[in-house]
Formats: sequence, structure tokens, C-alpha cells
Amino acid sequence: MPQGVVIIGVQWGDEGKGKIVDYYAAEANVVARFQGGNNAGHTLVVQGKQTILHLIPSGILHPHAECVIGSGVVVDPEVFLAEVDVLRKAGVPNLEQRLALSDRAHVILDYHRKLDAAREGNAGDGKIGTTKRGIGPAYEDRAARRGIRIADLYNDKVFAERLAQNFAEKNFLLTEYYKAEPLSMDQVVEKYRRIAEQLRPFVRDTAKWLNDAIVCGRKVLFEGAQGVLLDVDYGSYPYVTSSHTLPSQAALGLGVRLPKETLFLGTIKAYSTRVGEGPFPTELEGDPEGIGEKLRLTGKEYGATTGRPRRCGWLDLVAVRHALRTCGIRHLAITKADVLTGFGDLKVCVGYQRKGQRFDDWPADTTMLDDVEPVYETLPGWTASLDGIRSAADLPKELKNYLRFIEEFTDTRVNLVSTGAGREAVIDIHRAF
Ligand code: GDP
Ligand code: IMO
Ligand code: MG
Repeated sequence: MPQGVVIIGVQWGDEGKGKIVDYYAAEANVVARFQGGNNAGHTLVVQGKQTILHLIPSGILHPHAECVIGSGVVVDPEVFLAEVDVLRKAGVPNLEQRLALSDRAHVILDYHRKLDAAREGNAGDGKIGTTKRGIGPAYEDRAARRGIRIADLYNDKVFAERLAQNFAEKNFLLTEYYKAEPLSMDQVVEKYRRIAEQLRPFVRDTAKWLNDAIVCGRKVLFEGAQGVLLDVDYGSYPYVTSSHTLPSQAALGLGVRLPKETLFLGTIKAYSTRVGEGPFPTELEGDPEGIGEKLRLTGKEYGATTGRPRRCGWLDLVAVRHALRTCGIRHLAITKADVLTGFGDLKVCVGYQRKGQRFDDWPADTTMLDDVEPVYETLPGWTASLDGIRSAADLPKELKNYLRFIEEFTDTRVNLVSTGAGREAVIDIHRAF
């Protein structure tokens, strides 16, 4: 691998980023998360054993890899500690030495989760379908300059004052506006004092540490969460998450200069899925042929964080091309190719039709997508199993054709193809950047 690899999701999340990060992590020295929080669910399957990580970088199962959670991540400390505990019990070694948490990261507190749930509960049809992990409210507080950062947990005066200010405001909102139960501040200070002590071995100035590592030539993987179509600016606003999911966020969310030799790799699922509300032009829900349901069952498309069934549909290359252009990505990892085996003819969306007009760009006003008809190109499918294939040359010619179509439509190159959930099921097409 080059000195830096940035891996992001190109669609609505759950493209298989965790698996691709785990694949590269065999060669990396450091794996770092730069945005999002425990709304993410990244699945790794190693020797048949599944691990789902929400906050800790997907390199942690490689005992040599050091892992960093940067300042751009919003951290629920209880989730972090629980995840550490699960990994420790599973025998993952040297966590205190290998895992670092930025002292500048913002903390998700109980009132963020509670507000997230109250807003969603109140929004009726306008709900976003969030993960209710408090992500949006925590990023709001950061922007509004009333957030509490990890470093603030170690300053009793700042912590107590800011907490009191926040509790007064949040409880007013909860009780007066959302008609929900207030939260009690009793014992919170004590609880966080305890949590701060438990976090202490992990907390550092990760920006300084990572910059030094990059200067020394160490290899770093930058692990994105969510996907470009969930980016707060370039996604299907307002049905997005509250952070930037683009590769440029890697530098910002870690406070580093990326290595000069960095590969920017976009992960794309061979079809489309989405959890939560919002436009999804190629969605196949209740389609007469039952293809949406078949994709969900074959691809095991249930949320890794909330367990919600994922909405499924054909690959939307218009959305993908928009996403790739927005972030300048030219190299791809295509996952879950095996899921499409035996599906017969495959459709890919190459344009939209609305009120007799065709367009093939992703509009800023995404309500325009509510009543579009996708324009499909039909490509031949394949029937032979992909199990055990380790070389691109052995892939069925129809799959090669499918990959070539994606490359041509989006002006990119496919570097990796994933053909199963396990660590070993990756085909490296050896295209340098
Ligand atoms: P992430 O959030 O992008 O890391 O993706 P998730 O872990 O939420 O969802 C991807 C799901 O697909 C997980 O259950 C993975 O184990 C699984 N997966 C990843 N790559 C492949 C693949 O190539 N084939 C199959 N069948 N499953 C895969
Ligand atoms: P990974 O990293 C898929 C979706 C939620 C909702 C919207 C906003 O596993 O790909 P939020 O809780 O962030 O305020 O919810 O974003 N969402 C994801 N969907 N994968 C994810 O992460 C997601 N993280 C958030 O379902 O639609
Ligand atoms: Mg996921």
C-alpha cells in the first residue's frame, strides 16, 4: 500500500468499508477514524468470526496496528469503554497501548441521545430516521460552542459549568417543547469523573502524534464512516448525517497533513441500500419480481447498528457519479459482487426521467427525486459462484463487464473486488494509483 490510504463510502453507508479497511490494515501501521460516531457499524469477519465496530477503527483486530479516534469524531464514552471491554474479552491484545482517543473530540452525553430521540419522535413524516445515537445534537453543540470535549472532562470547573448551562437549556427544550421527561443532573458529574479516569490511558493529542508518525514514514489508513450521499453538504439533504463524509475530512478530522503518496479509495456496494428516510430512486420495495426482498435476504441487509432492515435497490450510477465527482475519487473497491450471483439480468441506473424530461445529475433540491423514474441499462448477469476466486482473470466475464461499465460511466478504476464477507474474500486487481 502507499503511505496513506483514505477509504470512504460512496453511497448511503454500509458499503463494506470496515471489511476493506481490515484488508489493508494487514500492511498499515496506523488506522484512524476522522468523523461520525457510533452511528457507524463496521463489520469484520475473520476466520468465520464476526465483529461489529461502532467507534473503534477497523484495524484493531490486527495486533500490530495502532488505532486513532480523531477530533472530528463525536465520542460516546460509555460506548467506547463498552467496545474496549468486548474486544478485551475477545482476547484482542494491548488495547491501552494501541488505541488513542483525541483530547479534542466532542463528547456525546445522555441529553444528546435524548434530544435525538425526542426530535425523531416529534417529527412525524418529516423524521430523518436517525440512529438515535445523539450524533446530530452533539455536532450542533460543537458548532454552537457549547460542546464538552474529552479534555474538558479533566477540568472540573469547565466541565461543571458547561454541563449546568447545557442541562438548563436541554431540559427546557425537552419538557417545554418536546413534552418529554427532563434529565437529572444528579450524579452526572460523579459518573463522568469515573468515566474520565477509565478513559485516561487512551487520551492524547492525537493530531501531534499522528503528524509525527506520518513524518516518520509510517503507513496510515484513514477510515471513513457513512457515505458521500449522507454528507451534510453534498448528500440528500436534509436526509443526511451531521458530519462531512468526504475524503477531505480525513485531514481536518485528524488535524494532519495527509502523506504525499495517498490513495483515495471509494467503496461501492454492487447494488444500493439505504437505512433511514430520504430519496432512493432505484429502491425496489414491493416490486412484483421481489428483487428488493431477494437482495435484502441474500445480502443480509439489516443495519449493523440498529438492526433495521435496509432498503434495497439496483445500483444507481447517477448518484454514485455525483458522489465520486464531489470528492474527486478515481479508484474503487466494489463489494458484495457475490450477492448478485444468479440474479439474472442486472439493471444499473444511468439517468432519471421526470415529467417527460430526462436528467442525469443529482439535484440540490432532492425532492425532485421523489417522483423520478430511473432509466436503466440492462447488463447480463452471471450464475457461477465466486467462492474461492482469488484472481481477477477467473471472474465470470459478465462480472468483468459489469465492473467495466461502472468504470466507464464514472471515469474511475476498480482496484479491489470483494466476493464474500470474510477477510480473505478480496481480489486485488493491482491497479496502482
Ligand atoms: P460498513 O458500514 O461500510 O463497514 O458496512 P457494514 O458492515 O455496515 O455492512 C456491510 C455488510 O456486508 C457486513 O455484514 C459485511 O460483513 C458484509 N460484506 C462486506 N463485503 C462483503 C462481500 O463482498 N460479500 C458479502 N456477501 N458480504 C460482504
Ligand atoms: P456506516 O459507517 C448507514 C444514516 C441513518 C439516517 C441518517 C442520519 O456503518 O456506513 P444519524 O444517526 O447519523 O443522525 O442518522 O444517516 N446513517 C447511516 N446509514 N450506515 C451508517 O454508517 C450510517 N450512519 C448514519 O440511518 O438515515
Ligand atoms: Mg455500516
